[in-house]
Amino acid sequence: MSERTIALVTGANKGIGYEIAAGLGARGMSVGVGARDDGRRAVAVEKLRAAGVDAFGVPLDVTDDESVAAAARLLEERAGRLDVLVNNAAITGGGPQEPTVVDLATVRTVVETNVLGVIRVTNAMLPLLRRSTSPRIVNMSSGVASLTRQSQGGDVGPISAAYAPSKTFLNAVTIQYVKELQGTNILVNAACPGYVATDLNGHRGHRTPEQGAATAIRLATLPDGGPTGGFFEDAGVVPW
Ligand SMILES: NC(=O)c1ccc[n+]([C@@H]2O[C@H](COP(=O)([O-])OP(=O)(O)OC[C@H]3O[C@@H](n4cnc5c(N)ncnc54)[C@H](OP(=O)(O)O)[C@@H]3O)[C@@H](O)[C@H]2O)c1
Repeated sequence: MSERTIALVTGANKGIGYEIAAGLGARGMSVGVGARDDGRRAVAVEKLRAAGVDAFGVPLDVTDDESVAAAARLLEERAGRLDVLVNNAAITGGGPQEPTVVDLATVRTVVETNVLGVIRVTNAMLPLLRRSTSPRIVNMSSGVASLTRQSQGGDVGPISAAYAPSKTFLNAVTIQYVKELQGTNILVNAACPGYVATDLNGHRGHRTPEQGAATAIRLATLPDGGPTGGFFEDAGVVPW
């Protein structure tokens, strides 16, 4: 078994996921770069290695059972366990997403990736996480998931019946994992990165991917006895 802490970041070939991988790598972790495209994954791994990160590629499409099972086998063979899982991969699904006109196929596709993908990956990795002395699961959520913020108005993104509710669904699922895993050493939390300039939003965000990665990195490196079942952003707790 590896002495280094082993992490897997899904959707790590670009954007916030790439910076989470870089940040965990800079903290000495061995980082699995989960990415579905062979070329994009290879470029990201190469770039991380050039920056001194102990990075390795993990072919991973979070919507595909066989791909996820193969990723678990790869980690099993490479490290025999997993210490940190960051469920970062997600899609917006494109528009229009106003509830009165949204295409149901859009909602299904978004939920398949952003919610079922997280459950699929988490459950495949749990046997490996259970072998860790300090396992951490971080689910990349969003401030738009907050029903409190949505119902109080303010700047919570465009009206959306797919992307925003998928993240609310993810938060709800996160809490159910916390309940089931109560009494274990696995800390499970949700993270909001803020509004970050990435391909996801046509680079309209005002934060850098590195800034967006900070909360997830903090939650991935929590000390034993740290919080579980929380929803956090840089400024602190996000209301559900
Ligand atoms: N950017 C923001 O302002 C913002 C705000 C709140 C929350 N978030 C959340 O932060 C996370 C990262 O977003 P981002 O802004 O960095 O987006 P991004 O640049 O679009 O990156 C998304 C990543 O997810 C991957 N991905 C999508 N579907 C996948 C699948 N089926 N299997 C495996 N990987 C898949 C993408 O891979 P490909 O390159 O192959 O497409 C890419 O690596 C997401 O969970 C997002 O919802 C972002």
